[in-house]
Amino acid sequence: MQHLMSPLDLSVEELDKLLTLANDIENNPQKYSHACDGKKLATCFYEPSTRTRLSFEAAMLNLGGSVLGFSSADSSSAAKGESVSDTIRVISCYADICAMRHPKEGAPLVASEKSGIPVINAGDGGHQHPTQTLTDLLTIRSLKGRLDNLTIGLCGDLKFGRTVHSLIHALIRYPHIRFTLISPEELRVPSYIREDVLRKNNVPFQEVERLEDAMKELDILYMTRVQKERFFNEDEYVRMKDFYILDKKKMRLAREDMIVMHPLPRVNEISVDVDDDPRAAYFKQAQYGVYVRMALILTLLEVEVC
Ligand code: CP
Repeated sequence: MQHLMSPLDLSVEELDKLLTLANDIENNPQKYSHACDGKKLATCFYEPSTRTRLSFEAAMLNLGGSVLGFSSADSSSAAKGESVSDTIRVISCYADICAMRHPKEGAPLVASEKSGIPVINAGDGGHQHPTQTLTDLLTIRSLKGRLDNLTIGLCGDLKFGRTVHSLIHALIRYPHIRFTLISPEELRVPSYIREDVLRKNNVPFQEVERLEDAMKELDILYMTRVQKERFFNEDEYVRMKDFYILDKKKMRLAREDMIVMHPLPRVNEISVDVDDDPRAAYFKQAQYGVYVRMALILTLLEVEVC
């Protein structure tokens, strides 16, 4: 039985196969509309979510399956003190596959060790968000036509932004990837990513504070929200929250073929006047999230569609 805890659980070849399946689903949705008839997906979300939970549910419904679950710890028996290990043993009696989001890093991994069904990490604290990474990779491959030879600007909260950590891990496996890490000093990427992931693998990167200084050389600008829920100090969050605002004026500095991505939700970091720019890809990105989660469910349930 296969679980998904990190994007690195899939080899580059497995990832390629999954993304190709997602593209086939996008182009031939009818072919897959009964692929999971009779199967059930449980969404166990101990933290708020719009995209991840609902795109998982849409994915299973598009495959002909059913969904059940909870959307907050308060509405589950976690509020009475039940452990994730016990919860997943019970969920394994009710569903065929489970997507779990949890504020504690490693909680979905703990669940997977006691589970009778495949468990997907749908985001664990500030650690990893592998299905967002699959979404991001599908978006990049579909819109840029490749996953290699790219200069990627990661901007905003690089300290707590789990989508950024997962994306770096995944992209460094492709040739000629370069990163520009754009953040204030206080929100720099954690040192283990800088040293153990980037430097150790000889991945070229630079760290800058001003977005304007980075724009013109980027193939992709990946904006992130300052993660309010991970700050211990409200004043510190308020000081940081509007550090970057991408607007029409800054977009003039970018290449014509650059794309802007964002895992969403956005707060103020992308002005709504950028939404109509053809380079704004963040709502398309949310749509790709459904196709890739459909492909992931099929893969983990070992369902083949001819
Ligand atoms: N991108 C993302 O994880 O969004 P949600 O928190 O709404 O699931």
